Order: sequence, then C-alpha cells, then structure tokens
Amino acid sequence: MCMDKKIADSVFYVGVNDRRTHLFENMWPLPYGVSYNSFLIDDEKIALIDTVDVGKVEAFLKKIEAVLKGRTIDYLVINHMEPDHGGSIRFILERYPDIQIVGNKKTFGMIEGYFELQVNQILVKEGDSLNLGAHTLHFYMAPMVHWPEVMTTYESKEKILFSADAFGTYGALNGGVLDSELNLDHFWGEMRRYYSNIVGKYGNPVQKVIQKLSNMEIKTICSTHGPVWQENIDKVVEMYDQMSKYESEEGAVVCYGSMYGNTEEMAEVVARGLSDGGIKNIAMHDVSKSHSSDIISDVFRYKGFVVGSPTYSNELYPGVKSILDKIITRGVKDRYLSYFGSHTWASATNKYFAKFAEEVNWEVVGEPVEEKMALKHEKQKACYDLGRAMAARLKDK
Ligand code: FEO
Repeated sequence: MCMDKKIADSVFYVGVNDRRTHLFENMWPLPYGVSYNSFLIDDEKIALIDTVDVGKVEAFLKKIEAVLKGRTIDYLVINHMEPDHGGSIRFILERYPDIQIVGNKKTFGMIEGYFELQVNQILVKEGDSLNLGAHTLHFYMAPMVHWPEVMTTYESKEKILFSADAFGTYGALNGGVLDSELNLDHFWGEMRRYYSNIVGKYGNPVQKVIQKLSNMEIKTICSTHGPVWQENIDKVVEMYDQMSKYESEEGAVVCYGSMYGNTEEMAEVVARGLSDGGIKNIAMHDVSKSHSSDIISDVFRYKGFVVGSPTYSNELYPGVKSILDKIITRGVKDRYLSYFGSHTWASATNKYFAKFAEEVNWEVVGEPVEEKMALKHEKQKACYDLGRAMAARLKDK
C-alpha cells in the first residue's frame, strides 16, 4: 500500500485524519471528523510544514518515513503553534535532533512556553525566504488568523500557499486529499461552521491575508484542515472573504429557548409571518436542542436574527444568553434583530435584548412582543406581525 501522497512536484501530503475526537477544542462537534494537515517538501534540503495533534503522532511519523525512507529532515516550518498543529513538535525533535525550526519571534516564545525547549532557530520575518534547492519558501505573517504567531508560507516553484488555519474546514479526508478527488458537498457547510466557530472573531486579520494573496499567483492552497484546494480556490477564497466581512444572505435565524412550549409557540408564529412575507431561508433553533456551533454558523449566514426567551431567574434563559454572548464575542456586524419574550409573574427579557441590540449595534426591526403565560390572540397577532416586519426589512434591499 502506498502511504505517501504527492500533491505537486516533490511535495507530499503527510497529514492525518481524526474521526475519533468528538469535540474540536473540546467544544465543537465533529460529525465528519477533522484532518490535521502537514506537508513534506523533498528537495536538496527537506522541509516539513507544520506537525499534527499529538494523539495522531504515530500515524504522522509513519507517513513521513514512507517518504523519507531513512533520510532526515532539515527544516520544520511552524506556521501555527495551536496544539492541533504544534502538538507533535517534541516528537519530531526527538527523531530528527539536528532539525532547524523555522518560525517568527512569537513562534519561538510559544515553543519555549509549551515544551520548555531550546531549539535550533531560523527566525524569519515578513517577506523573508528560504531556498531548499529547486523550491523556495517565502514567509508572510498572518497574526490573529487565528493566533498571534500565525504565518503563511508560499512555495514559489509550484505556487503553493501553506495557509495555516485560513481556508480550513472541519471534515476528515476520506481517501482523497485534493479537492478534485473528493465529494465536497458537506465541506461547504462545515467550512462555515469551522470559520464561524473558530476564526469568526478575527474578520479583519483574515481580510488582511486575503489582500496579501491578491498579488500572488496561487495554484494550490494547503490549509491545516480539510482538502488541499486546487480546483476550488476561487470559491474558497470568496467564502472566506464574505464570512470575514460578515456578509449575509437573505434569510433569518429564529432562535429561542422554551421550558414548557409557550415561547416556542411564539417562535412558530413569528416564523409563519416570515414565511408569509416571502422568506424561504428560515433556520429555527431551539437552544436546548441545536448545538451552538450550528446556530452561530447560521447567524454568520443569514441577515435576520429573531430571538425569543422566557424570563428565567429574572434574566434571559441561560441557553439564549449563551448564544448572545457568542455573537458578541465574534463581533458579528450588520444584522437585523427582532425579539420577543414570555414570563409568568415578572418580565425581564426585553431589557436584556435591548441591551444586546445596543452592544452589537444591529438594527431592531418590528415591535418587540412580550406575553404573560400562554400565548393569546392579541400577542399571537403581534408575533405574526413581527415576522412580517422582519420579512419586509429583509426584502427591502
Ligand atoms: Fe487548527 Fe488554530 O488551529
């Protein structure tokens, strides 16, 4: 069986798949698994680009050995130190003790901090290059995509961009590695979920990287997660461009918490109003059932956000509060907001929603609705009108 996988002249994929871990960063579900990508350039000098999660180090070392067949590695380029990529550095150093580590100032601070190791350093800064023989590597900093030490590496012979987390997605690589070898259907939704969950706060840094790329000729993008992009580069860059600008599609998220079904009933009526107003893309999420990663992904996708909550301990329902916090953390911009709430003896929801609206600076659409106990005729109509108002605003381009 052939374990090595060539993606360009003398460039090999040596990454690994993880279908065993349930939660990425111990938070975000991985229904399709995830890949930790690493690449080996086999030239006069041999360079390894990034490592993998430590849980997969054995498979990783085997793949490297399948290419090297007893030879050693000259350089380890570290584009990103987060442990899903930097986790196997210690093992690479043990096996290849003369290896030189290529990184920036922040990289070496993190190597010392994580591993208490002094390593053979090649310190690079913006625009520096390293010749391997036929291939030359050029280094461009990409701070906060998604950690401060992140950099990208451009290989100018084959025109490959090793982009760290940028242009990555959840989803293991099932047999194929190149985008042309894979059925990509589920990767697009997973890319939005990955971006919005992990990198979503860092829209401006991602925009800076995309601007830098506009001057480069790129034939292949090698992210640290997901397929190697060749046929779909334009689509992938466009998706990252749109997401990092918080651009949205016509549609609405209806997100609610409900203990006994009364707030849920209000949400159903709002959704009917949206539908009667001509909106087809309506993502309904019960915060106690939907995973927050899916709700956040839809918030990044759609222009409208309608949120409802019962009053709980004189505050918002905890699951709703948690979603609002995640939206604030990610700095999602330029959305329309409508809200509603219910209570039994004292209402607290709408003051929290109003505070949220102020904090995110979103336009509030329609008249907020507040019902006491079960939904009755008058407030049922108000919920319907709220949905219609949001639909009208979404259609009013
Ligand atoms: Fe895949 Fe920021 O690490």
